[in-house]
Amino acid sequence: MKSYRVICHMAMSLDGKIDGNYLGATGFEYFSKEYENIHEKYNPKAWICGRVTFEKDITYGKQIDLSKYPDTFIPREDFIADTSATAYAIAIDPSGKLGWEQGTIAEDYEDRQGEHIITVLSEIVSNQYLAHLRAIGISYIFAGKSKKLDLTLALDKISQYFNINEFMLEGGGYINGSFLSAGLVDELSLILVPMIEGTSNSVSLFEYGENIFQPVVGFSLEKVEPLENNGLWLIYKSNFQ
Ligand SMILES: NC(=O)c1ccc[n+]([C@@H]2O[C@H](COP(=O)([O-])OP(=O)(O)OC[C@H]3O[C@@H](n4cnc5c(N)ncnc54)[C@H](OP(=O)(O)O)[C@@H]3O)[C@@H](O)[C@H]2O)c1
Repeated sequence: MKSYRVICHMAMSLDGKIDGNYLGATGFEYFSKEYENIHEKYNPKAWICGRVTFEKDITYGKQIDLSKYPDTFIPREDFIADTSATAYAIAIDPSGKLGWEQGTIAEDYEDRQGEHIITVLSEIVSNQYLAHLRAIGISYIFAGKSKKLDLTLALDKISQYFNINEFMLEGGGYINGSFLSAGLVDELSLILVPMIEGTSNSVSLFEYGENIFQPVVGFSLEKVEPLENNGLWLIYKSNFQ
């Protein structure tokens, strides 16, 4: 029995897309602010995003020059840099691709600035990348020998190390699908944006890639709250348990 809850908090179009042209539409700005407002209402101690989302919205695709670090073996053991932070940003980055430059969220993401970064890695990550994370004070957790991570193990460890009992899972679609497949999503907090994206290759709320998604997950409606500009805030509880 796990000792924490996972709430998947997302904004989506009427056709179930979490990405695409509608994110840039003038009318979307209100929903983007509402997304942060609702995040604040939950006031989570920790939130999680996939590698692609962090690369797009936080590290902006930057690559770190790792050549200044020697390729000396660093044991694949968890590294905890800060357990006294008020909030934690958790990245699922199995290969160590994200170009972090500091141990906390930088000031250009004002709403989350200063939150301590924890990254979840596999053991295939390079020694130099680990040396870099240590140098800038990012905590890291190992959750698998190869690229496909054991997300239950990751959250079990993080909840213990950092005393966290509630996680907000905040996309994108592939990471959401991975957590749902692992039976880890307890609640959905959905901002329904009254727009249609329509492009078939834009990411949906839950994506599975090569993963085989077995369970049909039902949800019970807990709350419907109208938002301005014809939007809705929906809360569903998972019927998994
Ligand atoms: N509307 C919203 O509320 C909202 C919120 C967040 C994001 N988004 C949008 O979502 C889009 C990105 O979504 P996405 O689905 O393409 O990417 P994503 O979920 O952010 O990241 C996917 C990546 O996470 C890693 N990953 C996922 N499952 C894993 C597992 N089981 N084990 C190990 N690693 C795993 C993989 O990294 P590697 O490729 O490195 O192996 C994978 O490619 C962005 O455009 C963003 O703007 C929208």
